[in-house]
Amino acid sequence: MPQIKLINIVGARPQIIKASAISRAIRNYYSKEITEIIVHTGQHYDKEMSEVFFDELEIHKPHYNLGVGSAIHGRQTSLMITGIEEVLIQEKPDCVLLFGDTNSTLAGALAASKLHFPVIHIEAGLRSFNKTMPEELNRIMSDHSSTLLFAPTNAAFKNLMSEGFRPENSPPYTINNPKIYLTGDIMYDNTLFFAGLAEKKKEGFFEKMLLKRNNYVLVTIHRDTNTDDIDRLKEILITLKKLAEENDIVLVMPLHPRTIVSLKTRLNNLYDELTHSAYIKIIPPVSFLEMILLEKNCRMIVTDSGGVQKESHFFRKPCIVLRNETEWIELVNNGTAKLVGADPDSIRHEFLSFMNLQTVLEYPGFYGDGKAAEFILNEILLMFEKE
Ligand code: UD1
Ligand code: UDP
Repeated sequence: MPQIKLINIVGARPQIIKASAISRAIRNYYSKEITEIIVHTGQHYDKEMSEVFFDELEIHKPHYNLGVGSAIHGRQTSLMITGIEEVLIQEKPDCVLLFGDTNSTLAGALAASKLHFPVIHIEAGLRSFNKTMPEELNRIMSDHSSTLLFAPTNAAFKNLMSEGFRPENSPPYTINNPKIYLTGDIMYDNTLFFAGLAEKKKEGFFEKMLLKRNNYVLVTIHRDTNTDDIDRLKEILITLKKLAEENDIVLVMPLHPRTIVSLKTRLNNLYDELTHSAYIKIIPPVSFLEMILLEKNCRMIVTDSGGVQKESHFFRKPCIVLRNETEWIELVNNGTAKLVGADPDSIRHEFLSFMNLQTVLEYPGFYGDGKAAEFILNEILLMFEKE
């Protein structure tokens, strides 16, 4: 087997969580062959948006933290590119691993591909077909800068083919002759690994939170379309609050700092009303193990998060998606996730349907066998073996 140096770029919360699947697989199976260097762009920096995951999920502390922080897209991304470029020139890795669709992903793709380091994209091929979404641009540009593309779902794999990627390409793989794979989802690997651990490591969590299992709805909101459009955010929250009161069920909301900022600065009265309601529990972002417990034991999930939509499927929970479209289209086709945008009537209709469900929902295995990270690492090593 070859020996390689791999740079793993993270920045936002979900990427740190995803990186844990890769770090674990390297530790367990490829520690002799792969040296992993973690670069944190610093896109997320609050303790509960970053550090907590390194500690809890046993990921090596970042070898580099670029400390970029929050800024408007161009400024944030350009600072990241500058920082990543310097690290790449110094470290001269064999390849650069990227996750998902954030500005940190895009910065990694541009910095690495321009310096001719092979880019490996995990979660390739996902498309919402809405280019006003910053993540959609990041996805397309990252995929088209990559050498190995690992698609988590059939839909993602087909999207890549329809953009001209050819599954039959043969080695040597390059940015001009990229290889696409259908792998399953590394977040499914993580869920299988951490779900049991969460129960053990977080014993007493529900008592501490004053929550009863199966007697609350889990809500997360952070997508820019929902947080930056105050009328939309207000409409969503007022509708959900009414539904909670009418159905005598608590809404647990671990809110992203972005949403809290919008509420505190632009919807202060509503924020006050929500924090005083017996039916609303707004809490700071929780750790991944706590999130797993909240997902596993809720009645239903309401979210605009990509990751949380999928986790609703892993934990077999109905999911209301506060978006107009999703890249995880198989969930919607399966009928277990419903797209409602921010429309009060649609939110109400789907919420009540799921609350009063008489049938048992089916949750087919869309996301692989829980060994996606191993598969990915093996293919990366094979690429270097064939060189
Ligand atoms: C980013 C990703 C999004 C992903 C999300 C995961 C982009 C374009 N968006 O969105 O795809 O779903 O991460 O959570 O990359 N903030 C803090 N503390 C932090 C981080 C952020 O207070 O540690 C606040 C700041 O006010 C900041 C805002 O959140 O301006 C937005 O942060 P940013 O990283 O730009 O985008 P996210 O909305 O987090
Ligand atoms: N998550 C978490 N704590 C929270 C909210 C989310 O650990 O308070 C996890 C969640 O379980 C999922 C990931 O963060 O694995 C999703 O991240 P987020 O919703 O921020 O981004 P997206 O997936 O939409 O890019």
